[in-house]
Amino acid sequence: MQARMVANTASPKMSVKYSVLRPWAHLVLVPLRELQFLASTMRDVSSVPPESVKLRIICSLLKLHQPGISFVGTGTCLGDTTAMVRRLGHRVISIELDSVQYARAQHRFRDDPDVVLVHGDCVTALQQVLPRLTRPAVLWLDAHYSRGITAGGPSDDPILACLAELRDQTVRSHSLLIDDAATFDGQRSRPDLVQVMLAIRAINSEYRIRIQGDIIVATVNRTTSSNNGWKIYSSVRENQP
Ligand SMILES: C[S@@+](CC[C@H](N)C(=O)[O-])C[C@H]1O[C@@H](n2cnc3c(N)ncnc32)[C@H](O)[C@@H]1O
Repeated sequence: MQARMVANTASPKMSVKYSVLRPWAHLVLVPLRELQFLASTMRDVSSVPPESVKLRIICSLLKLHQPGISFVGTGTCLGDTTAMVRRLGHRVISIELDSVQYARAQHRFRDDPDVVLVHGDCVTALQQVLPRLTRPAVLWLDAHYSRGITAGGPSDDPILACLAELRDQTVRSHSLLIDDAATFDGQRSRPDLVQVMLAIRAINSEYRIRIQGDIIVATVNRTTSSNNGWKIYSSVRENQP
């Protein structure tokens, strides 16, 4: 399937229920889920952080990059991550397979020329997007079928195919953030965690990989942080004996 990359011009009607209830649900549910997460952390029970906490983790990781770095997301969904990344001032390219989610995102970001939305399967779309990235970017890989409003592509989970696309690129030092680490269990078309780690290392053996709040974070140490550098490791190094 050919991915479609277009400017944000559509204006689909959002349902009244969606636009009215969502902010109210957020006001109540977000603090509640954060409290539950905090409580389970305090009881030493391992649990997956809610979306709002994950957004803060992405935000803190992005702040370690120079301003102006491009952010490429797979699985736009409601566009919450895109909106947060835009608030930090980064340019976003986001890919969504589902036509309804894509149309909603187009509407949400219709006035923002720094959000490029791509409609199509992320593996096909990445074949077009990645060669255009001439400098390291941040990639948020989160496209997969997860019931409800989400779509499923040729594969329910395209993560390994997405990572394989990165292997053939000139730039192989993008910072990779892959969501839902806990669900990589080798079941139901989901690869297991080791397969994901090996696929990352196959792109570039210099990737350092860790899991932060259910997000797999893979970065290449760039000691010179002059251009779009990921500064985290230089500061960690300074603190090491
Ligand atoms: C878990 S949601 C993404 C949430 C979003 N990244 C965020 O941070 O708010 C997964 C999204 O991936 C989309 N999706 C599923 N398979 C896809 C594919 N092959 N290519 C692009 N998007 C896909 C689904 O329709 C869904 O919107």
